[in-house]
Amino acid sequence: MKFDEQMRAYTQAVAARLDDCFTDDTQPQRALFEAMRYSLLAGGKRIRPALTLAFCDLCGGDTNSALDFAIAVEMVHTYSLIHDDLPCMDNDDLRRGKPTNHRVYGEATAIMAGDALLTAAFGTLASANLSSAQIVRAVRALSLCAGELGMVGGQILDMHAETRECTAQDVHDIQLRKTGALISAACQLGVIAADGDEGRQAAASRFADAFGLAFQIEDDILDVIGDAQKLGKATGMDGKKNTFVRLYGIARCREMVKEEVQKALDALAYFGGSSFLSQLVSSLAVREF
Ligand code: IPE
Ligand code: IPE
Ligand code: MG
Ligand code: MG
Ligand code: MG
Repeated sequence: MKFDEQMRAYTQAVAARLDDCFTDDTQPQRALFEAMRYSLLAGGKRIRPALTLAFCDLCGGDTNSALDFAIAVEMVHTYSLIHDDLPCMDNDDLRRGKPTNHRVYGEATAIMAGDALLTAAFGTLASANLSSAQIVRAVRALSLCAGELGMVGGQILDMHAETRECTAQDVHDIQLRKTGALISAACQLGVIAADGDEGRQAAASRFADAFGLAFQIEDDILDVIGDAQKLGKATGMDGKKNTFVRLYGIARCREMVKEEVQKALDALAYFGGSSFLSQLVSSLAVREF
């Protein structure tokens, strides 16, 4: 299958499964469901669930069974965006081409929509049509990557970095956690869904470290030179942040994206290569949204 067709197949399967979530209209707290679905179904590139499905495919698994793992990662990602946009964090008004969750539903509901998405993600992992051993591995990987050692750990470092000068090591430490960790979870969960061994899980993680770094450097570049319309979020918002662009400048950042893309491609050799993942990684270096 061609890259575009494969990506469409993955994202359509993910969209269909997500559309079935939080629809119980017999519950009195429908307003919470609405806020959760507002951000979850607002679009987004669906890169993380695509990575889960692609790694499952690459390791010979059944992507249908991996879908619950894939949407669980997207739920955690969406919650992280809702909270990242709050006035007490990045204070953003636009996300995925729409007003941010708190702008529509208010801060308290946005916080709770995030809380409920995070909680539902682990319930979704537990309901996957896979073995108990695979589910336990997935819960462990996602919680390590999403929590205090991973994404949330990175978000607090990012916030504290606003008020001080950072070294290159500091900025790498922030990105590895705030963005890299969840991308790593997405890749690892694909391997786990296919019952791949620890060696493959570690190789997926090495791939994700390089891919995640390239992804965040590109995100920082796009904050400066990107088009808000195409991105679906405002640009020029990283003023106080210790971003890669602030540290290295645009030209060096562009080189770094290429270097990390190459490292990610090299990491795929462990799996005997993957045409889909190679193209996904390479498309990142030229992405506009
Ligand atoms: C945005 O992630 C936040 C970062 C970690 C840079 P994405 O660029 O994947 O956002 P969506 O899911 O497409 O909206
Ligand atoms: C977001 O980083 C990382 C997480 C949401 C965990 P950014 O703050 O750079 O993401 P955008 O630019 O708002 O999408
Ligand atoms: Mg942020
Ligand atoms: Mg932000
Ligand atoms: Mg950003």
